[in-house]
Amino acid sequence: MTITSSLSIVVIGFGLIGPRHAQAVDECPQTHLAALVDPFKTHEKRHTARTMFPSVPHFRTLEGLLASGIHIDGAIVCTPNHTHLHVAQVLAKHNIAMLIEKPISPDVEDAVKIKRLSEDTGIPMIIGHHRRFNPYVLATRDHLHRCGKIIAVDAVWCLQKCESYFKQTPWRCSKKMGGGVINLNLVHDLDLLQYLLGPIKCVYATECEKTRDDNTGEDAVVEGAVLTLTFQSGTRGSFIVCDNVISPANFEMGTGENPLIEKNSQGIDGVFYRFFGTRGTLSVPDLTLFHQDGSKETGWWSPMHKESIDADVEGVPFALQVEHFAKVMKGEEEPRCTPDDGIRAMLAIDAVVKSLETDMPVKVAAI
Ligand SMILES: NC(=O)c1ccc[n+]([C@@H]2O[C@H](COP(=O)([O-])OP(=O)(O)OC[C@H]3O[C@@H](n4cnc5c(N)ncnc54)[C@H](O)[C@@H]3O)[C@@H](O)[C@H]2O)c1
Repeated sequence: MTITSSLSIVVIGFGLIGPRHAQAVDECPQTHLAALVDPFKTHEKRHTARTMFPSVPHFRTLEGLLASGIHIDGAIVCTPNHTHLHVAQVLAKHNIAMLIEKPISPDVEDAVKIKRLSEDTGIPMIIGHHRRFNPYVLATRDHLHRCGKIIAVDAVWCLQKCESYFKQTPWRCSKKMGGGVINLNLVHDLDLLQYLLGPIKCVYATECEKTRDDNTGEDAVVEGAVLTLTFQSGTRGSFIVCDNVISPANFEMGTGENPLIEKNSQGIDGVFYRFFGTRGTLSVPDLTLFHQDGSKETGWWSPMHKESIDADVEGVPFALQVEHFAKVMKGEEEPRCTPDDGIRAMLAIDAVVKSLETDMPVKVAAI
């Protein structure tokens, strides 16, 4: 692959998340936004693209862009989940590096096909689990060892998605098209928990009640679930995930990483992870470490020390991810989230879905 000094990047899919990637590409010193691709079916979308990026060419199809002769080094794939394989196949034919939004694909077989595109051609490919670049996650990863052996984790992602979110684009609440909170949101957390604690071995999930009036019938999506997790390391976990409850306990409100979602004023309001270890407990996003280091005898009769971890939490994950993508394309860094990592997250999600269907614990398939 020939790499020019500023990498030429196309963002494919200009819906909810595409504009954030496009902004990150535009602001990154190592990249420039060479084109946007989207059918631009609504006037509003076209207007947004023209206003945000007036000098960037817009194409209705990827094929149209490729026929235009514009040089492209890398693509950020922000199209609906069920289209990722097709888009990746077209990009691979043209030797274009890829950052594919999560989930890599709603279908594990398709996810493996996507991974092979990179393996067979050597084309750089990373999966957009951008939370691996979130400063709260990086601080957690840096300090987790201070908890000793992690015996258990208690995790939660609870909030209420608004009606307009589902009305904007119907695939988000279509089971067939890979929508729903399990595919769209839980996948982030299961990726993060595996990033922090290693592979999940087994899951048991029970479904929470559905409440949305129009979420019925065969294509209805799960609105929430309670999970029990067993990690290969021996760590056990519990997880509550729901997108139909009013709650501050979720990654977005806790870290403020999504500009559309207001950050909790105090970290403690929305603790979403607690890691319980033999030497201490770390809670996130308040980044508080409870420990008894220095005690003659640790245990319930000794005082608990409460330490606030001093971490720089200013970094913007999408910006850091684009910088990383550029470095991966130049061969300066190894992918922080490989297709295998994306597949591992999907396999965990697959096990959750099977467990919900069968009401039985399900082993997570090996890659
Ligand atoms: N990392 C994150 O936090 C995050 C957040 C939201 C969505 N996502 C992921 O990003 C992807 C897009 O999600 P979204 O919510 O932005 O979806 P969206 O429906 O809002 O936008 C998708 C866009 O892709 C366009 N599109 C569809 N098929 C296309 C094709 N073949 N070529 C070009 N454009 C095409 C549509 O017109 C639409 O504008 C999904 O994979 C989703 O899971 C990630």
